[in-house]
Amino acid sequence: MGGRILVTGATGNTGSVIADLLLARGVPFVAMARSAENRTKLAARGIEAIAGDFDDPASLRTALEGVEKAYLVSTPDETLIRREQAFIAAAREAGVQHIVKCSAYMADINSESPNLRSHAEIERSLAASGLAWTVIRPHGFMQTFTLFSWAMIERVGVISAPHDDGAMPLVDVRDVAAVAVKALLEPGHAGQCYDVTGPTALTMWDMAEVLGRVLGRPVSYINGSPRSLGLMMKILGVPATPAEHVIVISRWVREHRLEQVHPTLQALGIRPTSYEEFVRDLVAGRTGGGNSFKPPDTRLARLLGAVMPVMLRVRLAIGGRPRRPNGD
Ligand SMILES: NC(=O)c1ccc[n+]([C@@H]2O[C@H](COP(=O)([O-])OP(=O)(O)OC[C@H]3O[C@@H](n4cnc5c(N)ncnc54)[C@H](OP(=O)(O)O)[C@@H]3O)[C@@H](O)[C@H]2O)c1
Repeated sequence: MGGRILVTGATGNTGSVIADLLLARGVPFVAMARSAENRTKLAARGIEAIAGDFDDPASLRTALEGVEKAYLVSTPDETLIRREQAFIAAAREAGVQHIVKCSAYMADINSESPNLRSHAEIERSLAASGLAWTVIRPHGFMQTFTLFSWAMIERVGVISAPHDDGAMPLVDVRDVAAVAVKALLEPGHAGQCYDVTGPTALTMWDMAEVLGRVLGRPVSYINGSPRSLGLMMKILGVPATPAEHVIVISRWVREHRLEQVHPTLQALGIRPTSYEEFVRDLVAGRTGGGNSFKPPDTRLARLLGAVMPVMLRVRLAIGGRPRRPNGD
């Protein structure tokens, strides 16, 4: 046993910050990446990269040789169960001792969300594997949520979602990564399932206010409809499974079912990043991670990108900027 740490998803949101944190602390580790291009990019950041594809068992066997602990994360689409279960099986064969898995808040085998059902199923497989495990169940990422809307925020000063006045304690990817690094490096995290939220549940009105304050110009919340959100995700090429997840989550937000703040970060000695700190860091280019979703370069997506700002500007010009229902 070489005692090596392997980080999967090192080109994605959480994995890239975990790699940066391990690098900064001088901890030896190796990042698994499926494309030669990404391995070259990782090497340019001073990170040792190894070839590995969840869809290629032979590559997993090679990548996992001599690995003691691994961070497991994959894209939240219909491939999630197959890919992560393949990794767990290969890790078991390779004699890996401990897997730290990125799951999701409210993972449940009976969930209405396909993504949350998948995570619960993978968690079960991990528990049944006989390996030591730590499960991290983060709430929505500040990075994902904000960067998905960033073009509209910057160009028109608008954020939109079908959330009514429901709130969410979004969490900074950097704090999720800090939990993973603790679980990889410190004793006492095996068998733990961590619900990880941000420090405060904020409504879209609250987030618009923070964005406006940091950017120094008005940012308004336009309450959207689930139908238009579904259509927009379709045009932008969001795959069916994550799109269905987002629609379910937005209903739960409207129903005020996702507002609970968990003190997990504080209990682990990590100071949770506030949304305002996150936005300030984002503007200053200091947030790490990012939004791994890249909109497709299709005619329809380009048309949407051109038409949406115009429609929103016309709407704001005619109706004025929306105000909170209580007049604040
Ligand atoms: N975004 C949120 O708000 C949120 C909130 C809570 C939980 N989660 C959960 O977090 C997870 C996603 O985490 P993330 O945002 O850190 O990841 P991410 O940015 O979606 O990146 C996924 C990573 O998986 C890698 N990958 C995909 N397929 C692969 C394959 N066949 N072989 C090897 N590597 C592969 C990708 O590599 P390539 O560069 O090669 O594609 C990428 O590095 C999901 O399970 C999601 O359900 C997300």
